[in-house]
Amino acid sequence: MAPNENTTDDTKLISRERQDNEGWYKLSFDNGYIGQYPYVWLKDNCRCSACYQPSAWQRTSHIADLDPEIIPQSDDITDGGAGFRIIWPGGHRSDFLAEWLNRQRFSETEKDFVDGQKLAIWGAEMDTDVEKFDFNKIVTSDTELYNWLSVLGSKGMAMVQGAPLKVGAVGQLAKRVAYLRTTVYGDTFQVFSKLDASSVAFTPKSLGLHIDQLFYEYIPGIQMLHCIEQAGEGGENQFVDGVNIAEQLKRDYPEEYQILRTTQIDFRDAGDDHLRYHLKSRRPMIQYDRHGNFMCINYSDHCRSTELSLPVDQVKNLYKAIKVFNSVMYRPENVFSHRMDPGEIMTFSNGRVMHGRSAFKLTSGSGSRHLEGGYFDWDEAKSALRVLRENLFGDKRL
Ligand code: OGA
Ligand code: ZN
Repeated sequence: MAPNENTTDDTKLISRERQDNEGWYKLSFDNGYIGQYPYVWLKDNCRCSACYQPSAWQRTSHIADLDPEIIPQSDDITDGGAGFRIIWPGGHRSDFLAEWLNRQRFSETEKDFVDGQKLAIWGAEMDTDVEKFDFNKIVTSDTELYNWLSVLGSKGMAMVQGAPLKVGAVGQLAKRVAYLRTTVYGDTFQVFSKLDASSVAFTPKSLGLHIDQLFYEYIPGIQMLHCIEQAGEGGENQFVDGVNIAEQLKRDYPEEYQILRTTQIDFRDAGDDHLRYHLKSRRPMIQYDRHGNFMCINYSDHCRSTELSLPVDQVKNLYKAIKVFNSVMYRPENVFSHRMDPGEIMTFSNGRVMHGRSAFKLTSGSGSRHLEGGYFDWDEAKSALRVLRENLFGDKRL
């Protein structure tokens, strides 16, 4: 069933109490819930056609016309408890569904299932625990698509198998979610050994564990690395859960942890690829969001800038702290190593999961190592998860 604000369940309103001094209604529902509903909020969220455009899920009224001190003129429980009507001074009428009001609960706890998803922290055991998804199933089944994105949300890492051995597979996955996130390296990027490489990734050298594209202010959310052809020798990948590293650092090295949380580090990338570019950003190596929850790790040896916009007396201690971070990150119990087979796509949350690669050699008889990489963003992935939940499980919109 398509989600709809007007889809009713059985919740009924059993009583309403005006509390004009507080400026809210106390509403009681037949499921036992009792909540306060500020008058100004009710007026702001009037669902009439003058105030709201249902097809857009958006308000058409303007804040300039809203009086924060508004007090209803009269009210009524309608349709045997299924509705609540308010008449405002001047005669404007607002009709609310009890079922909708019941879902609009004021609280600071996270109500959104997708944003509230718990992070499952992992280490080297990911070697056996990594969840595997079939490429063709993701392309054809919404349930498989949901499960894959959901694992990316909780573990930040999932393996996709059975992809065709040609360029284009990461684009197909991104299209199932929304669209690719283009960068200065193009819509997707081809990882193989190139002359005059525009990134050290495009050489046969090893790549230390890192997060991609840190020189952007807004980094790509999810990375896909598709192995089309593997090297004759080497080219193994390593993956580490940044949440795990942040926690270990906080526990084992509180001083260094503090430095890495608070010191802004410069990142830079300059060159010529899809276009000529010079990108810069500045961020601390460990970041938390506004709720104090883990947000991202900003670690990349090859993209740390020469520039350090810091008081000079902080430089040496910063290097010491970065080295501590690096040694914790490479603790054997933290590293999941995997040599990709052609047809596999490693998908992971960029910003959470650091990835690296061992040096590789092209032996006689073997072709060249070729990966296609691509990104899509968390905004679209979370949006897809919410829409999929509405379609698959009947989740309702607030
Ligand atoms: C990259 C990268 C890994 C690999 O291109 O940023 O990390 O296995 N590549 O080549
Ligand atoms: Zn990378």
